[in-house]
Amino acid sequence: MTHSNGHANPNGGPDLAALRQAYEEAGQGHVFTFWDKLTPAEQGPFAAELASIDVKRVNRIYRNAMAAEAPAADLTGLAPPLVGKDISRSPSPTPEEAGPLPASAVASSDSPDAARWRDVGLRAIADGTVAVLLLAGGQGSRLGSPNPKGMYDLGLPSSKSLFAYQAGRIRKLQALAAQHAGKDDKDVRLRWYVMTSGPTRAVTEAYFAEMDYFGLDSNDVVFFEQGVLPALSNDGKLLLAAPGKVFTAPDGNGGLYAALRRPVNANTDMTVLSDLHARGIKYIHAYCVDNCLVKVADPVFVGYCIERDAQCGAKVVRKTVPTESVGVIAKRGEAYGVIEYSELPTAKAEQRDDKGDLAFWAANIANHFYTTAFLDTVEAMERKMAFHIARKKIPHVDIASGQQLSPAEPNGMKLEMFIFDVFPFVPALSVLEVSRAEEFSGLKNAPGSKSDSPETSRRDLLAQQRRWLLAAGATFADGVEVEVTPEASYGGEGLEYVAGKHFVRSGAISGPDDVAALV
Ligand code: UD1
Repeated sequence: MTHSNGHANPNGGPDLAALRQAYEEAGQGHVFTFWDKLTPAEQGPFAAELASIDVKRVNRIYRNAMAAEAPAADLTGLAPPLVGKDISRSPSPTPEEAGPLPASAVASSDSPDAARWRDVGLRAIADGTVAVLLLAGGQGSRLGSPNPKGMYDLGLPSSKSLFAYQAGRIRKLQALAAQHAGKDDKDVRLRWYVMTSGPTRAVTEAYFAEMDYFGLDSNDVVFFEQGVLPALSNDGKLLLAAPGKVFTAPDGNGGLYAALRRPVNANTDMTVLSDLHARGIKYIHAYCVDNCLVKVADPVFVGYCIERDAQCGAKVVRKTVPTESVGVIAKRGEAYGVIEYSELPTAKAEQRDDKGDLAFWAANIANHFYTTAFLDTVEAMERKMAFHIARKKIPHVDIASGQQLSPAEPNGMKLEMFIFDVFPFVPALSVLEVSRAEEFSGLKNAPGSKSDSPETSRRDLLAQQRRWLLAAGATFADGVEVEVTPEASYGGEGLEYVAGKHFVRSGAISGPDDVAALV
């Protein structure tokens, strides 16, 4: 175990006196209130947990988050040990000060240049310089499924889960890139970095193993884990989940950046960053797990960003209604950044331009591009980034009485970094507008919900595949649904064999041999 406070004693455990002093100096000495009541078996793990928390960093994160939330607030109101002179600020102005994304800053995947971008992207994939990074640390609480979202079965004819779809697209793209470059299939590999969290890691890894990595080489799949942060009271004090346990929560999908620098598991020194360098991977496509239409390692997007020499890029679609739960890319000072839906002021969400369209229109679909060189520089930016505050009802042990409390009102905060918090540090974010019908259908809400549900995901995916089959010359009897699995096509290509076929039965096709049973 590493002790970020560096307080080790010769017996192997942390040095308790030094640990206490560090917490007291940081104004967090209350965490030791119940120390003497703990058994030695409880004290050991608690001391290890406290040693693993960089309490000064936690205080800094609190200060920066409070400063960003209320720039005009009088910060002297914060408890003295928590006030610091080093409150740093992100270069981006507050959401209230942001302006719409200018049309000139956006290219479209409809552009005649897209064929050339695709070419550039496929070549980079064939050269082994592209990797895929999946964010799968969320618990999907809105969806209400006990398993990680990627395991969700949308009820497709193939019964494939979201993870299976993404893996299938990686395999297909490897084959397409190999073909494009005149290489052997087995010589083109896309490495897949899968970020999990404490709650999702074990079950995700077990599922991949059970599914035999969906036909991928298990050596090409690298699991790693985002971190946690203590939850804090409204005045910045660590909360205790139990007398000998700090209340912690995942640090948000922006925890990615710190996680890239930590060993991917306890048995190795390898980090994602060291692995990217060791393998000569220069470009990364990162995406969120819950979009069934995601074009994993999309060669058009990758090629577009490579051609522009971009450090960082993002895909957008047009936002549909002011209340849609998507972040929007906006102009924030000299740079572009995402304003998350939870932070976009209503007046801005509803603002219209001269044509009557939403002024803040550029919905972030959580598809990001980075160069490895850019990821190397993020650590230096992190001190300036403000974590986002989510005020929550946090059950905890009351320090004065020792009672376990379950508050009815929000009594504290969880702190999260968002993956796009780095954008304002990029001189020119490369933004690509893509078609919603082809690329975005989020799985956020429980079955039966009107939007972003398993039903709407299934509908949008099958509708896309139907368009592909119609374009290839197939026809359908009423009510027939035909799934085109990623084994058959990555983006609608390679379906010439359905020309003139009339589908009369529903089912899935993974290649020409599957057609006969459905016509
Ligand atoms: C996210 C975007 C939002 C975008 C929308 C599109 C962020 C912060 N917000 O919102 O701007 O419009 O998707 O669908 O990216 N995750 C982790 N660790 C965490 C929390 C989440 O890995 O601690 C992962 C999830 O597994 C998921 C992704 O991040 O893959 C997004 O999760 P979620 O927090 O649900 O984001 P949204 O609110 O949907």
